[in-house]
Amino acid sequence: MKPKGGDRDHMRDLIEQAAADLAASNHAVVLTGAGVSTESGVADFRGPKGIWTTNPKAEAQAYQRYERFLDDPRAYWEEMLGAVGTSSNFYQQIRKVAPNPGHYAIARLEHLGIVKLTITQNVDGLHEKAGTRNVIHYHGTVEKLRCLSCGSRFSIDEYSLERLPPLCRCGRPLKYDVVHFEEPIPSDVMDAAEAEAMKCDVMLICGTSAVVYPFAALPAMARSRGRGGSGVKIIEVNAEPTPLTHQGISDYLIQGKTGEILPLVVDEVTKLSPERDKRS
Ligand code: APR
Repeated sequence: MKPKGGDRDHMRDLIEQAAADLAASNHAVVLTGAGVSTESGVADFRGPKGIWTTNPKAEAQAYQRYERFLDDPRAYWEEMLGAVGTSSNFYQQIRKVAPNPGHYAIARLEHLGIVKLTITQNVDGLHEKAGTRNVIHYHGTVEKLRCLSCGSRFSIDEYSLERLPPLCRCGRPLKYDVVHFEEPIPSDVMDAAEAEAMKCDVMLICGTSAVVYPFAALPAMARSRGRGGSGVKIIEVNAEPTPLTHQGISDYLIQGKTGEILPLVVDEVTKLSPERDKRS
């Protein structure tokens, strides 16, 4: 539904505000969720057409995955590779998907020197495919395998996955680097993300329902440092309001599609700081 005159002006004002906040920032970070990848054809989880919304059985199975790996790594891998159950090698399929204008806009903000880091919940690797270099994979990535015992990570392409389970150099079974429900967030990732929440002066949050913890605690952590001045400006870009909007943790929400809004924000930023554009 195209926004009406008044709404269009309001949207315009919010996009210009976001561009001004980003252009004036010293340390902006981006937080992303499944919503930034839906325009690439990867379904989100809790939106109207989300995987969990449309297939509660798959969600229930997803809650068993971590336990299954701990109990029987071979059975875990047979399921993950789609041999059994409903996962239908989802992880292998999303490796073939291409980024959309939302991903490219975030990469552009990094190349302009504005965005210092992107912290994503997405396991699809689309930020890197769009050219973003500094990425924290808060929920892991389908591009890697990880050892729960020694913490090592390996590119999945180093393993044929014919012999299951794949083994780490320390001899222990490897799992997907993806963090499953009930699985603890690796401490290196958690610490790095929290350090950014305590350091950033702008937090741009894109395409997440902000209901999954501990990731959803990062905005409140940043908010605890206050507003304006030495505080932080928190901006949401999402198709619908979230608890961050309702609880006033974010300063404002730009409601709509990230693939449409973020490129407009970048256009405004380059107008505001053409010198950055020339340098990038
Ligand atoms: N542009 C903007 N927002 C969008 C778009 C879009 N193109 N498409 C969907 N959205 C919004 C949805 O309305 C929803 O509010 O993005 C949000 C996606 O929320 P979720 O589906 O809950 O995804 P996410 O927040 O990333 O989930 C967190 O939960 O299932 C686990 O591990 C999984 O990392 C995931 C975590």
